[in-house]
Amino acid sequence: MQLTISYVVQRAFIVMFFVAVFGVSYLRAEESRFRKQFIENYKTNSLQAQSILIKQNKDKIADEVNSLINEAMLPEKNYQDRMYLLDIANAIATMNIHWNNGDEELLKKVDKLQKEEFAKEKKKIEGLEKLKETERVPGNFILSVRKEEMAVRGLSPVLYPHWIHRAFFRCKVCHEDIFIMKRGANDISQAKIQEGKQCGACHNGAISFNANAQENCVRCHIVGKPDAKPLVDLSYYNPNKFKEIASRVGSEWKPENMPGGKLPLDKMGFVNWVELDKIKAFGPRTAINGSQDTEGVRETSILFETSSTFLKNVLFSHKIHSTWVKCSLCHPNVFKPELGANMIKMIEMKDGKSCGRCHGKVAFTYSDCLRCHNYTNENLPEGALINRAITAAPAQ
Ligand code: HEC
Ligand code: HEC
Ligand code: HEC
Ligand code: HEC
Ligand code: HEC
Ligand code: HEC
Repeated sequence: MQLTISYVVQRAFIVMFFVAVFGVSYLRAEESRFRKQFIENYKTNSLQAQSILIKQNKDKIADEVNSLINEAMLPEKNYQDRMYLLDIANAIATMNIHWNNGDEELLKKVDKLQKEEFAKEKKKIEGLEKLKETERVPGNFILSVRKEEMAVRGLSPVLYPHWIHRAFFRCKVCHEDIFIMKRGANDISQAKIQEGKQCGACHNGAISFNANAQENCVRCHIVGKPDAKPLVDLSYYNPNKFKEIASRVGSEWKPENMPGGKLPLDKMGFVNWVELDKIKAFGPRTAINGSQDTEGVRETSILFETSSTFLKNVLFSHKIHSTWVKCSLCHPNVFKPELGANMIKMIEMKDGKSCGRCHGKVAFTYSDCLRCHNYTNENLPEGALINRAITAAPAQ
């Protein structure tokens, strides 16, 4: 192998970069004086001293490189630590060839490991990207608390698509009689499902497909499979199919009321549920299995006068909200049911509090500023109540 001095210097710079960025915290107490000196020479850019060090320690080099490899490949090492150690091993092996006419196999061994680790990391990142893509649609949740038990049975994690369910059921059907409105909080299991609880309240062969039937396992255990695509790109939607489901579950689906027969979408390209209600194109159920929606709908609207200088006020419609969800999801824990008693701050939404309990998770995202900040005194509906909490607060 023909190595040029510039290649050696280039590698030296790469290793120095890692040393500079990640600092000396990687250096372990038991590391050899040789290794310490080698890294020191890098930091000070002393190529001269490095060549002397490599030549003087010719006999030790194979051991040094192997011990770096062993340390790098310890299972508890993360990707950065591992690549850092392998980079040093690579640099030592490279210089050993250059200055000592040393063993090329040593370098090949390190190179091979680096390539493998890089490929593994790339695959891992791609896997994570895929999961992120699956959850792109608001409310598409991957359920994988029992990941290991599912893997043992050769099953993928479960994809729960809120968007398909809310076409036929209001949130109040599930929250919180069937499911607590918090991810991972329900201890969902196949045994409970097969007893007719949780998903099994509907996936029992009566309201929807049976979770007990062997051929249906992969309809839910679908994450990472090509069949999951229609749930992610919304192509699962088909007007006739939705009409069929609606008539089976006792809800309504009326594509004939949709302009051009098309599903109304919001600015982000997701279903506009408020519009579907406005044009009376659907009628999701508010209760199932003989229970009743006892809390009902409240008609008032509350205007939040904005303290922002660049955005309009926000109108909160009780009607829209209490049609979907129960009063008890908001009152009294999230909002005091009293006009002017709540001061809303955007910062809380990003933490999943206040309006962000639903917006940005299942309801449209808080990034769609103008969908909330769109009211002036001119377009205010008659009888709207006014929350002055923010504008009435003393100037800071
Ligand atoms: C058919 C049942 C069902 C319906 C209908 C339903 N959900 Fe859910 N929801 C779930 C399940 C299942 C989970 C996840 C629970 C878990 O992981 O344990 C969940 C979780 C949530 C969460 C928790 C998110 C988090 O990050 O913790 C929110 C918020 C939520 N739903 C809002 C809604 C809203 C708003 C509606 C109506 C527009 C709705 N859901 C309708 C079943 C439902
Ligand atoms: C309606 C959707 C649905 C269907 C259909 C379904 N499952 Fe599940 N299954 C779930 C959910 C949700 C979980 C809990 C996932 C989690 O949070 O880890 C689960 C968990 C599991 C687990 C993990 C261990 C346990 O006991 O909970 C196994 C194993 C499993 N299912 C097997 C099956 C088999 C076999 C079938 C087909 C006969 C099937 N599932 C059909 C939704 C479904
Ligand atoms: C309130 C009733 C209800 C509950 C509870 C419910 N589902 Fe569903 N689910 C439906 C209906 C209705 C459909 C529409 C499909 C059909 O019935 O033909 C559906 C469709 C689905 C689909 C679309 C896949 C397909 O092949 O059609 C998935 C995935 C799914 N449900 C998973 C779940 C999981 C997981 C749970 C529990 C965490 C759950 N569902 C709880 C009623 C329900
Ligand atoms: C789900 C509805 C909703 C969305 C979406 C939303 N806001 Fe707000 N925002 C509110 C409410 C309610 C208040 C309290 C009244 C007020 O001060 O405007 C508020 C307050 C504010 C305030 C003043 C108080 C504070 O917290 O700083 C600013 C600035 C603001 N929003 C900016 C934004 C921007 C920028 C976006 C988009 C990234 C946005 N909002 C999206 C509901 C929303
Ligand atoms: C999505 C959350 C949410 C839901 C669901 C909800 N509310 Fe409210 N409610 C609010 C907010 C926000 C305010 C504003 C309080 C303020 O001005 O600070 C409010 C204010 C109120 C008030 C005082 C203002 C008024 O309208 O007279 C009452 C009473 C009230 N709610 C009752 C209810 C009842 C009853 C239900 C169910 C039918 C309900 N709310 C459902 C969020 C909600
Ligand atoms: C419990 C869940 C929940 C909470 C909390 C919540 N929302 Fe909503 N909101 C919804 C749902 C569901 C919709 C229907 C649209 C959707 O799902 O994208 C909605 C719709 C809206 C709309 C109607 C948008 C339109 O197109 O007309 C506005 C405005 C809004 N919310 C503002 C707020 C504000 C402001 C708060 C906090 C004071 C809040 N929401 C809290 C669930 C919630």
